[in-house]
Amino acid sequence: MDIKSLSKPIEEDLKIFNKQFRDAIRSDISYVDLITRYIVRQKGKQIRPFLVLHTAKMCGKINESTYRGAALVEILHTATLIHDDVVDDADTRRGFASINAVWKNKIAVLMGDYLLAKGLLLSLDNRDHEFLKIISQSVRKMSEAEILQIVKSRQLDLDEKTYLKIISGKTASLLSTCTEIGAVSNEVDSGQRNLLREFGENLGFAFQIRDDLLDFIGKKNITGKPTGKDLIEKKLTLPLIHAIENAPRKQSAAVLRLIKKGVKRKDLETILEFVEDYNGITYSEQKAKQYAEIAYSKIKAFPESPSKESLVKFLSFVVERIK
Ligand code: IPE
Ligand code: IPE
Ligand code: MG
Ligand code: MG
Ligand code: MG
Repeated sequence: MDIKSLSKPIEEDLKIFNKQFRDAIRSDISYVDLITRYIVRQKGKQIRPFLVLHTAKMCGKINESTYRGAALVEILHTATLIHDDVVDDADTRRGFASINAVWKNKIAVLMGDYLLAKGLLLSLDNRDHEFLKIISQSVRKMSEAEILQIVKSRQLDLDEKTYLKIISGKTASLLSTCTEIGAVSNEVDSGQRNLLREFGENLGFAFQIRDDLLDFIGKKNITGKPTGKDLIEKKLTLPLIHAIENAPRKQSAAVLRLIKKGVKRKDLETILEFVEDYNGITYSEQKAKQYAEIAYSKIKAFPESPSKESLVKFLSFVVERIK
């Protein structure tokens, strides 16, 4: 299963979205515009507009404000990924050199700020105040969670509860923003709005748990980003947290020492084995599935439609995806 086939019911809408996204980030300064063209060429999976558009269609119909909402979330998502690659010192994104790798950190930081401002202006110019409120909260949560993640990686101390708090802020919040914006663009009642927000939130947990798992078991040529990066960055994620909590103390301590010293490519194999031995991979897969099931329970009662069907299938994609 791929996202393309799930996008069939919104194929034309995605085209309109893509044009609006492109237009919304244009710059009169040619050097800046050069970078925006580079960004537009390296399209990601476009999960966020996918969610906005399908949610809107499932509970009503796609209108002008839905397109703007979709553009807004994708612009802010792109901005945070550009900043994320600076923070994580990553040289690859979407299978290509990251912005910081090509233009260096200074330009990448400012380009992220530029996109953030462009996104906000798009909403302000159209008086989408409700969107702005939702998305600003989400960006606040993301920044707080990213900082918490850095602090925890410096202390090399993390339990499952704190891990979940981090991914709630850094991923679940933006995905719930997408589904909430899709709902708000249709002026649905508050009950439906809450259900759709919670759908996105649980989906977001499943998505990030899978993303963290892919850092262990993924293939760079498929994911478009290097694997083992989280360990090298001393970022403890669920597969490892679970293994550490379950392995004999001595073994866990040895692995933590190794990470503290700085993991080299050759150590990755050893750590992966440790994680597998103590059930970290299967446990994370199960957890992701549990969140996907909760997500399903939130949209179960919506009337059947092609968009609902795509969203339900998308839940399976999220927990099985290899990219
Ligand atoms: C990456 O999101 C950031 C996370 C929340 C893990 P995606 O994997 O959706 O990124 P693109 O847009 O497809 O590159
Ligand atoms: C980034 O998380 C999520 C953001 C909020 C930007 P990661 O650092 O795990 O994302 P990838 O793996 O680089 O895409
Ligand atoms: Mg990263
Ligand atoms: Mg990061
Ligand atoms: Mg990751």
